[in-house]
Amino acid sequence: MSSYGAAPIGTGSYVPEKVLTNTDLEEFVETSDEWIRTRTGIHERRIAADDEPTSTLGAKAAEHALHAADIDASQLDLIIVATLSPDTPFPNTGCHLQRQIQAMNAACFSIEAACSGFLFALETAANFLRNGMYKHVLVVGAEKMSSVVNWQDRSTCVLFGDGAGAVVLSRVPAEHECLLASEMGSNGHHSDLLYIPAGGSAQPVTPEAMEKGLHYLHMNGREIFKLAVGAMADACSKVLSQAGTSSDQIRWLIPHQANTRILASVGKRLGVPPESVFMNLHKYGNTSAATIPLCLDEVVRNNQVDEGEHLLLTAFGGGLTWGAQLLRWPHPAPGTPQNDKTN
Ligand code: UT7
Repeated sequence: MSSYGAAPIGTGSYVPEKVLTNTDLEEFVETSDEWIRTRTGIHERRIAADDEPTSTLGAKAAEHALHAADIDASQLDLIIVATLSPDTPFPNTGCHLQRQIQAMNAACFSIEAACSGFLFALETAANFLRNGMYKHVLVVGAEKMSSVVNWQDRSTCVLFGDGAGAVVLSRVPAEHECLLASEMGSNGHHSDLLYIPAGGSAQPVTPEAMEKGLHYLHMNGREIFKLAVGAMADACSKVLSQAGTSSDQIRWLIPHQANTRILASVGKRLGVPPESVFMNLHKYGNTSAATIPLCLDEVVRNNQVDEGEHLLLTAFGGGLTWGAQLLRWPHPAPGTPQNDKTN
């Protein structure tokens, strides 16, 4: 049993200025505002500027999180960025982000677990804190999905958006542990249900691959839908039982923001009332690894979570990958001076 635990001490987020509405989409793909709203719940999404790569979205979210945590970027020991839309195949997006926030004492790496990436990164960060190696870890979920979707494919381009969210996770005494339980899973047998076929070593980007649109995201939406509900509900049940917590103790269920019908079904299976299922996908669409930290920061900034309350996070995405995490919001709340940031 470690003598250390992990606790969030600050959150932040950033979405690009440009808003693309469903009605805007009607102008270049055969779709309708009515279809998108009723089938997905999405009304609009944000689109990053040409000079805003994923790392820049993440850096802006990180600056807000550092401000909320009241620590300097130089105090960060580690930066983990979850993304499927990296700035470059390498160096990793964490290094690009590090340069922008001047966190020059941090080691940096990225995690690619698609929409589950932020949860995988959070648990990874927590373990670096629990084992005593680091004091402050910046965990970022950032995506420029507009750079990987095929804007001529109506079955995918209407779903995704750009954005970023960040959390500063810090080492605390074990009795103040906030990440109460965690579950992560994967199934590589279904890797072709949601993926980008070309651009890696299996299939480099060639003119022929580009001609077929293989460098864009491909998804079998119907199959993913079916698998997502069961996997997220199951992962949530496991973390609740690990922590000995019941669903009526959950202040917010924060599921990966893919489709209101999926979110509602997960809530229903768990017995979480609809008013406790957090949703912001009407504003941002599916921002992949950024959806959970975007929601988390919104909950925190709107004062919708109090000290000691429980948040249940869950995600599902390409890989396949899925996970859930039970968080107890810290005592004292992030940003308050009593918070132990130096142990
Ligand atoms: O982030 C990772 C996890 N991702 C997800 O969880 C996504 C999961 N999947 C979904 O959310 C849903 O499957 C979608 C929103 C992607 C699609 O909804 P659906 O109810 O499963 O629709 P569908 O794919 O079965 O398509 C129904 C119809 C089709 O027409 P036909 O074959 O019935 O004539 C599609 O061609 O809707 C058509 N369609 C569209 N129509 C207007 C597909 N996309 C569009 C569109 N506008 N954008």
